[in-house]
Amino acid sequence: MKKIIIAIDGPAGSGKSTTAKIVAEKLGYIYIDTGAMYRAVTLACIEQNIEINDNELNKIVDNINIELKQSNLGQRTFLNGRDVSDDIRRPDVTKLVSPVSAMSYVREKMVEQQREIGKNGGVVMDGRDIGTVVFPQAELKIYLVASIEARAERRLLELKQKGFNTTVEEIMKQISDRDHYDSNREISPLRKASDAIEIDTSNITIEEQTSKIIFYAQKLLE
Ligand code: CDP
Repeated sequence: MKKIIIAIDGPAGSGKSTTAKIVAEKLGYIYIDTGAMYRAVTLACIEQNIEINDNELNKIVDNINIELKQSNLGQRTFLNGRDVSDDIRRPDVTKLVSPVSAMSYVREKMVEQQREIGKNGGVVMDGRDIGTVVFPQAELKIYLVASIEARAERRLLELKQKGFNTTVEEIMKQISDRDHYDSNREISPLRKASDAIEIDTSNITIEEQTSKIIFYAQKLLE
């Protein structure tokens, strides 16, 4: 049976990873969270105490190994063989990830790895530039959006469950700063591909948004 590439892009907290995970599970596809890769590079920068500039980042990127592995706990992210799936969600990583992922060499290396993983299809990949840059030929492109309030509430819940103490106002500010940075960077800015289907997830359930995507995917697979 034909295996397609499903690209899911959108701003922070729009529901990409939850949606992509379920869609992948239902189709028997691999789920790839590309944000986790940029977060792992950022964690390496923090741990090695390096400045965010081209020179330093180029060295880091050439000397680290990032792997995404599927397990019964979902996708796990490894940095130099160590499982960093929890650490990459830390607020200090979130704060620094946008400037790190705006660097050209970082993007070049990550995109190369993402293309390799997805080249045979059968993947649901989420990120910011999947439909525009990584796989412009993806058969199905989804662009998820949601109101800033809905996105902040979701992120607040996630962070509280992980034991981080924060407020909805603080998260709203972080999310809009990150969206601004990601949308205005020079290389591969966050934007909707012209052939992407936009879904606003502010007022629909996860079940509704995943069913819509499965419906589009099945039409393509028929
Ligand atoms: O889950 P959340 O919306 O917080 O973000 P993420 O998907 O984990 O991505 C974290 C950051 O990585 C984003 O804010 C972008 O700066 C960057 N990113 C990117 O530049 N390109 C991608 N394909 C994925 C993430």
